Amino acid sequence: MKDGKRNSKCISVLISGRGSNMQAIHQRCLDGAIDATVSHVISNNPQAAGLRYAEQHGITTTVVDHRKYDDKTAFDRALADSIDEHQPSLVALAGFMRVLSAEFTDRYPGRLINIHPSLLPRHRGLNTHRKVLAGGDRWHGCSVHFVSPALDGGPLIARSIVPVLPDDTPDSLSDRVLQKEHMLYSKIISGCLDGDYSCRGHSVFYRDMPLRYPHTF
Ligand code: GAR
Repeated sequence: MKDGKRNSKCISVLISGRGSNMQAIHQRCLDGAIDATVSHVISNNPQAAGLRYAEQHGITTTVVDHRKYDDKTAFDRALADSIDEHQPSLVALAGFMRVLSAEFTDRYPGRLINIHPSLLPRHRGLNTHRKVLAGGDRWHGCSVHFVSPALDGGPLIARSIVPVLPDDTPDSLSDRVLQKEHMLYSKIISGCLDGDYSCRGHSVFYRDMPLRYPHTF
């Protein structure tokens, strides 16, 4: 708690599946590391396991099932309408597996962030742990970025790096990177809510200074 206005800020978290990043964010809100509340969890997938966690913890949940909309524009508008009902300070994509339109991303300038399990811009999209092993990469990790309409695109804020070990498998890499994701995302969410990180155009600023390279934790 920094100024006695605990939990005055709200976060909407968008998920498509398990929701472990959402759970980590929620826990950091509960223990005070993030001075905000997860007020709304939205999923495009009615079966997303993370929805059950949110319901059990009294968080409002909404399903905006992409299969029920004629096209991407209609889905994105419904998604935005659902988000806007809660007026969140920040919208965090946490394993949300839909690429969003410019109309959508432009609606949340500096308030829409994503975490991805690779050292972006390397390995956008799915199966990043397999791609790292197939590519013989020595280093892997996760990245947090402001969201643009490109797949896993947008200005980079921060990343965490792990070494690729000789006996690594996709699963072992996934486990190690996921631990980093949970720490990194909470840290950056806190920084965004505090106004430390901002985005103007294609540039990220840290405390009003241009961030030339993503912060590494
Ligand atoms: C996480 O590894 C997240 O970085 C990734 O999906 C996983 C979701 O896990 N996101 C992407 O690949 C986005 N392109 P979770 O549901 O347990 O948080």
